[in-house]
Amino acid sequence: MRDLLAGLLETPTVYDEFLRLLARLGLAVPAAVLERDVRQPWTHQPDLVPVLREVYESEDTPWGVYEACESLVDVEDNRQRWRFRHLRTVQRTIGARTGTSGSSGADFLRRALDLSSFPEPYAVCTVIGTGARSPGGAPSREPG
Ligand code: HEM
Repeated sequence: MRDLLAGLLETPTVYDEFLRLLARLGLAVPAAVLERDVRQPWTHQPDLVPVLREVYESEDTPWGVYEACESLVDVEDNRQRWRFRHLRTVQRTIGARTGTSGSSGADFLRRALDLSSFPEPYAVCTVIGTGARSPGGAPSREPG
């Protein structure tokens, strides 16, 4: 059992495998991304944004690769929809009481709505079809 769990932790994620595929197709996926320690949680990689931009903008991108990228976004989207609905369920069931694992409950779950397993395919939406080389752009008005 312990070996099984250790093995799972060392297995690259589906996102790692997708990025390795892009590298095999000749896209400039940074070595630091390809050689990362897959036991560690993902951290945002701004250098991947131009790579994904090429996937979306280049006419040479094989259709399946474009589709795989969209599927990753679907997975993330559906997980966050689930999280939002679960949060609303929790709010109307236990209100602001703490969770069974000792978490702050609804507050903890609300913060999880800002977590992303695949931040780069979202970041690329900011620059697709614009001249900008990286996300940033015009200042925006934030809530609060
Ligand atoms: C009224 C029903 C429910 C309440 C009050 C509730 C409450 C909570 C709370 C407070 C947490 C935060 C962690 C903790 O403190 O334990 C949590 C996390 C979680 N719950 Fe529930 N829960 C409910 C129903 C469900 C159901 C039906 C499922 C799955 C079928 C589920 C799956 C999860 C998962 C996967 C997490 C981790 C959250 C994440 O990854 O964002 N919960 N729940």
